[in-house]
Amino acid sequence: MEAAAISQPLAWNARVFDRLTQLSVRGDYTPFGLFHWPERLPEDDWWMSPGLLSIHGTPLMDRLAEEQLKRLSKWESINFYSLNIHGIRELLIEVTRRLYARGFEIPSDFFHRFIGEENDHMWFFAQFCLRYGTKIYPSRLMPLRSQTDDAETEAFLVFARILIFEELVDHFNVRMANDDSLHPLIQQINRVHHKDESRHIAAGREVLRQLYRGLTRRLGIEQLQLLDEYLRHYLQTMIEALYNPLAYRDAGIAEAYRVRERLLADPSRRPYHEAFTRRTTRFLIGSNIISQGLFA
Ligand SMILES: [Fe+2]
Ligand SMILES: [Fe+2]
Repeated sequence: MEAAAISQPLAWNARVFDRLTQLSVRGDYTPFGLFHWPERLPEDDWWMSPGLLSIHGTPLMDRLAEEQLKRLSKWESINFYSLNIHGIRELLIEVTRRLYARGFEIPSDFFHRFIGEENDHMWFFAQFCLRYGTKIYPSRLMPLRSQTDDAETEAFLVFARILIFEELVDHFNVRMANDDSLHPLIQQINRVHHKDESRHIAAGREVLRQLYRGLTRRLGIEQLQLLDEYLRHYLQTMIEALYNPLAYRDAGIAEAYRVRERLLADPSRRPYHEAFTRRTTRFLIGSNIISQGLFA
């Protein structure tokens, strides 16, 4: 269903979207044939950088043997790509609803490129999960649709959630693309994704700035505070989705649900959460959209 029209005219910066669309066209590719998919990936390799594991910095990291840590890195990587698949599904739906919807005519060309690229990303992440994990973990993300009948507010929240999701994922992509201890295919997938995401993030920030400017003209301080709180909760939810008990179980860790609870309550994980969300938090605070970062 098409999204409701934006009633307030937005001052889109058409040049930004034109430039990002041109860059996307210039970097056009198809993922079919781009990757070499080996029959299997070595089980005694790291599949995810150890510093990105959800147990890094906790007593559990010291307790587990390297073999088990590597097994965990496999299942946490499958969780990470599964998260991507579910996040992409939601954003494809929400961005598609806004193609040519009144108020979104100017970014529509860029949205077409974005949708095409996300379709490709979903395919290669799913290939990875199904070939090497034989599964995609079920979604633990909050549904993207929000409980508001105000079109501007809904659009703002949709694009804010997309940006938070993309910036968090990108932090992982950049680190894994540059980690030479990972299999070349894992590095390549993360590198290819990061290249597209840098355009998506630039566009997402522009969309968000415009939508928020529109909202500040109409909404009172209390309504804006609710949005602030909502988005900080969303940041927290994204972080929590990195802790998947099913991945712990597949890695052979006993009492997976209790382990998850303990990890989420462990203060030594806080600096990691801050590092994962630093870039998006800085942008959102700098744009006066949120008042502070993650909840303590
Ligand atoms: Fe993507
Ligand atoms: Fe993206």
